[in-house]
Amino acid sequence: MEVREKHWLNPNFLAPNVLEVEIDPATFSAAFGLVPEIQSVEAGSRELALGGGLRFSVKSMASLWASDILWISQDDMATYNFFNAMFRASGIAEKVAHRVDHDHDLRLYSGFFVTRSKCEKPDFHEDWLEANNDAFTFLMPLTANCGEVGLTYANARGGVAHYAYQMGKGLIFGDHFVHATAAGQTSQRCVLLSFTFGTDRMDNWPRIAETAAAQGRLHCRPDGVVMRGDKVVGTV
Ligand SMILES: [Fe+2]
Repeated sequence: MEVREKHWLNPNFLAPNVLEVEIDPATFSAAFGLVPEIQSVEAGSRELALGGGLRFSVKSMASLWASDILWISQDDMATYNFFNAMFRASGIAEKVAHRVDHDHDLRLYSGFFVTRSKCEKPDFHEDWLEANNDAFTFLMPLTANCGEVGLTYANARGGVAHYAYQMGKGLIFGDHFVHATAAGQTSQRCVLLSFTFGTDRMDNWPRIAETAAAQGRLHCRPDGVVMRGDKVVGTV
C-alpha cells in the first residue's frame, strides 16, 4: 500500500483523515428505536439494562472534560452483537478499508451511544495516536439536536472550524484529526451513535488498544476475541 493512500487531507474540512459519509437510516433502525431510553440515562448511572437482553456500561467523562458527556457501551456479547450487526450492515468499514492494513474484514472494536446536554469548553484531542489509520472512529447523530452543539476541529490553516451534525450523515476519522465537542447547551440530551473499528491484525494493537480498549468495560480485539479487562468472554 502506498503512503498516499493511508493518509489524506479532506478539502472540504481542510483537515486530515476525516470523511463525511451518507448513511441509510434504515440500517440503524435498532439504534434509533432505543433513543428515548438512552436519552433518559442520567449522569451518575453506571449500568443500563434494556429489554431484549441488552446490557450497557455507562462512563462519565465529567472529571476530565467540562461536559456532561456519557459513553454508553456494550457490556456483554449479546450487546456487542447488537452493535456489530449494524456495523456490518452499514457499509461504513468499506469507506476506509482501502486505507487500513488488514487481512480479511475490518473489525468492530466497540459500539457506543454518546449523550450530552452541555459542554462548557472544547477539550481538543485526537482519538488515535500513532495508529497509522489502522483504526477509525465513526460518529452519527441519532437526534436532530446534535447539530445545535456539534464538533469543533483544528484545520490545516492553524485555525478552528465547526461541524454541525446532520441527520443522515456521519463522520469517520483516524489519526491526526484534532477535535472536541463544541461548547454549548441543549434542552434535551443529544444522542450520537459511535463505533471504533479497524484492522483485524494484532500487529498494531498495543497502540490501537490505548483508545479501543480504554473507553468501556468490554471490547473486541482485532483477532475477534471479546475481552472484559483481561478476561475472555467470547469470540466473534
Ligand atoms: Fe474524540
